[in-house]
Amino acid sequence: MKKYNFDAIINREGTNALKLDVLKQRYGRSDLIPMWVADMDFASPPCVKKAITARAEHGIFGYTCASEEYYQSIIKWVGRHHGWNIEQEWISFVPGIVKGIAFVIDCFTTEEDKVIIQPPVYHPFRIIPKLHHREVVYNELIFDGGNYRMDFESLKQQAKTAKVLILCNPHNPGGRVWTKEELVELAEICYDNKVLVISDEIHSDLALNGHKHVPFASVSEKAAENSITFMAPSKTFNIAGIVSSFSVVSNADLRDKFYNYLKASELEEGHIFAYLAAQAVYQDGDEWLLELKDYLWENICFTDQYLKKNFPQVKAAIPQASFLVWLDCRELGMSQKDLVSFFVNEAKLALNDGAVFGPGGNGFMRLNVGTPRSIVEKSLQQLVEAYIQHQ
Ligand SMILES: Cc1ncc(COP(=O)(O)O)c(C=O)c1O
Repeated sequence: MKKYNFDAIINREGTNALKLDVLKQRYGRSDLIPMWVADMDFASPPCVKKAITARAEHGIFGYTCASEEYYQSIIKWVGRHHGWNIEQEWISFVPGIVKGIAFVIDCFTTEEDKVIIQPPVYHPFRIIPKLHHREVVYNELIFDGGNYRMDFESLKQQAKTAKVLILCNPHNPGGRVWTKEELVELAEICYDNKVLVISDEIHSDLALNGHKHVPFASVSEKAAENSITFMAPSKTFNIAGIVSSFSVVSNADLRDKFYNYLKASELEEGHIFAYLAAQAVYQDGDEWLLELKDYLWENICFTDQYLKKNFPQVKAAIPQASFLVWLDCRELGMSQKDLVSFFVNEAKLALNDGAVFGPGGNGFMRLNVGTPRSIVEKSLQQLVEAYIQHQ
């Protein structure tokens, strides 16, 4: 018997939801089903609302500090779910993971230093270093038809001259949950070449269908000594608007340098609701998450089956984590511009343009299925009907 109803359609209009409110600006029209930015259309677990309303009732919102319970909730969550034993002093609040990545780049590199990323990958990995005038080096992932693997041979060459590598663990947009063996090899190459690894683990709690997330820093001494990890409850519990990310750094030297950098601008100071919401979900969110993951996996399987049956020219790369389905549309033979226009102007769907994820992204589109199944189904129907009209 399920306790939570992920089929419920909740109207997000009038809530300043980015997913809805910038459609016209980004896609040129607003009559689209929003299947893009990576938040979900589900209510967060009830414990979030309970913690926030209880605190709001108090009525005084003065300066706030992170409580012992907040840290303990993170430590226990990461230990319980990912088998990684972390310590309180390793943890710091950060005001967002993308910002955290920018801080690491600013703190540990200088202009013109090289930053390696593995595209196609979450686009701020490319944009943020570039905006900081760092050279971005692409170690393109290898698509084997089903999903991605890393190109270690080319990484060995690139690592010789780079300062930082940004790892997406699990990967967005492919949804790969990297294995311990893959991460050990990556750690080895980066450590031996003095390339600091930023491990973005925002999707880590959403490993699906028996896959198990492996925290990068947990795989070896070299990984632990040479990495800065970012985690957050934001994707897992749909609380991105609350901004409750944190970093974990086990190496004392890296930690001193990075946490002093954060401190110098008071960047490590969170706000009342960030601490409360993170603590609430880490203490009471397990049951909700289990049901969510089942629902997401069923949405993914539904999408895959629907496409196989009705639109076999578009293939879903089945994600091992999270709610983003990477659609291989190359068989349609459209230019990227025509492909995007087909989705937007003919199918009336707002997906993420694969090209934005960098090299290897052309011919792909990213579909967010973190939404009730009836909306996934409607989107897929619109897609198929549009293609019938298009031919
Ligand atoms: C890999 C990855 N990192 C970071 C973020 C955003 O994190 P934040 O909102 O904490 O900056 C996203 C959001 O989609 C993501 O997919």
